[in-house]
Amino acid sequence: MCGIIGAVRKSDVLPVLLDGLKRLEYRGYDSAGIAVIANKSVSRVRSVGKIAALEQAIQTRQVLHGTTGIAHTRWATHGPPTEINAHPHISEGRIALVCNGIVENHEEIRQKLMSEGMRFVSQTDTEVIVNLVSREIRQGKDLLEAVKETTSMLEGAYAIGVVSADEPDRLVGARHGSPLVVGIGDGESYIASDMSALLPVTRDFFVLENGDIVDIQENRITIVDQSGRTQSRPVKTSSLSLEAVELGNHRHFMSKEIHEQDQSVSNTLEGRITGTRILEACFGNRATQVFDRIRSVQIIACGTSFHAGLVARHWFEEHGIPCQVEIGSEFHSRIHAVPEDSLVVSLSQSGETRDTLSALEHAMESGYAHSLAICNVPDSSLVRNSELVLMTHAGPEIGVASTKAFTTHLVALRLLVIALGRRFRMTETDEARLVRELRELPKQIRAALEIESQIRNIARQFVDKHHALFLGRGIHYPIALEGALKLKEISYIHAEAYPAGELKHGPLALVDNEMPVVSVAPNDRLLNKLKGNIEEVRARGGKLIVFADSRTRLRSQENLQVIHVAPVDSSIAPIIFTIPLQMLAYHVGLIKGTDVDRPRNLAKSVTVE
Ligand code: M6R
Repeated sequence: MCGIIGAVRKSDVLPVLLDGLKRLEYRGYDSAGIAVIANKSVSRVRSVGKIAALEQAIQTRQVLHGTTGIAHTRWATHGPPTEINAHPHISEGRIALVCNGIVENHEEIRQKLMSEGMRFVSQTDTEVIVNLVSREIRQGKDLLEAVKETTSMLEGAYAIGVVSADEPDRLVGARHGSPLVVGIGDGESYIASDMSALLPVTRDFFVLENGDIVDIQENRITIVDQSGRTQSRPVKTSSLSLEAVELGNHRHFMSKEIHEQDQSVSNTLEGRITGTRILEACFGNRATQVFDRIRSVQIIACGTSFHAGLVARHWFEEHGIPCQVEIGSEFHSRIHAVPEDSLVVSLSQSGETRDTLSALEHAMESGYAHSLAICNVPDSSLVRNSELVLMTHAGPEIGVASTKAFTTHLVALRLLVIALGRRFRMTETDEARLVRELRELPKQIRAALEIESQIRNIARQFVDKHHALFLGRGIHYPIALEGALKLKEISYIHAEAYPAGELKHGPLALVDNEMPVVSVAPNDRLLNKLKGNIEEVRARGGKLIVFADSRTRLRSQENLQVIHVAPVDSSIAPIIFTIPLQMLAYHVGLIKGTDVDRPRNLAKSVTVE
């Protein structure tokens, strides 16, 4: 998964492409490149590493000036992150192409093209696309016809942008499975993997659908399907503000996103609750009809979103709603005994995670009754492929480590628990209490953020560590999983999470005074059991850091550091107790000097299986 951008402008294309690449860098950042059509030839610069490295390479070479161009930031799938494998790929010196996605039948096409005498220089699957386009052009087609013919031969999921030295004011894009938007400027037009890349130059977009091919010629935009029929797509105006995708006073997006969680949670709630009730219509026009039928819930998601699903399972079942949760990549690779009248709930910040999309497709093919997406990105594939939708409205999440997406997913899931719970054993009094707790959340999040200076000090203790253990019980076991995921992603410290009660069944053997053990201790019915587990660790010389509700009477003592969190209702405690763990990971990463927003080997949106 990568980021692509392209433009046909009235003036120099380079600044827009470079700025757009920086905004897309969260999608992948192991190498990058730009190709511009200048003086009827293709001029290209590529470099290994982040966009800053590409910018430097461009300054040294000073060759890229023209009004039509494409650019790419890469997360390697086929072939390591070398300059040769970086995009744009060029064929026969005339055609340049960028791609986000995977061509599944690339090997077969490569063999065929090689037998016809075509040369390949990279190890990428993308090079087969550009060579196919080039071959079609050699046979007399124009750029659009050549792309149409090429895409009809490709299997996989991809979005591409192509330019040709022989048609200097033209840019052709195509979408099949990976996202692509078309930006409508003032006498200029653009393509990009997402709208945020183009916000400084336009707010009006066409969102391409699968199978769409866009032909941009000077300021004329035509969208056609595979057979050449013109397609009309509505213009969507982005309401994203530029500040939402900029750092402001923060050093990193991760810090910004942690600190805006009170606001993002308020946004998730806005217009969804009235008085003591939630408004079911927020799930879509057909929500009531669908919910009346539902007898169980199947959650599918990956990574952090999966952890949100694990928390929600406790909430659903507490109110009598049977609930299963499964990781997308596991769900789509097995056969299911489908329960009757089950609602598939897919959770995804980006709405483009391939494993989650495939899991949803697999669920519907297997016979699940209905689908609901909880998602942060409007017009994403997940949103478009789901029957019901609840947008989280968290605002763009740029840091690769997911933070506000997690807490807003939990809030959205809480709304769903209430909507479905009414049909099970939730009373009006229960609903009023849950709604009251939700209204309190932004204030409680602000209180949780106030302990950051204590966390900054604790973070120093992790700098020379290689391992850390996270413990949680019941609904807080997924919070331990999430805390461990954040720490390993950001600091590269191996971190593992265990249900605290499971400790004695093996992991206790690891405990020594070298490995920090982190736990969260809300004031809930499992507290005494958790205290027992904390003692088991201390008794073996382990060093604990515990984030505890101030009512728990847990106090710091030898080998036990307690950081108090303001009292919080136990049902929403998982949302609040996540926040110190996010801050811990952030500060450990910061002290270790890792690239917090773009940790190595990762990408924000994982559009491959
Ligand atoms: O966009 P999604 O919520 O579908 O993404 C799923 C995971 O890739 C994502 O949560 C990932 O685990 C994060 N980098 C974790 O911080």
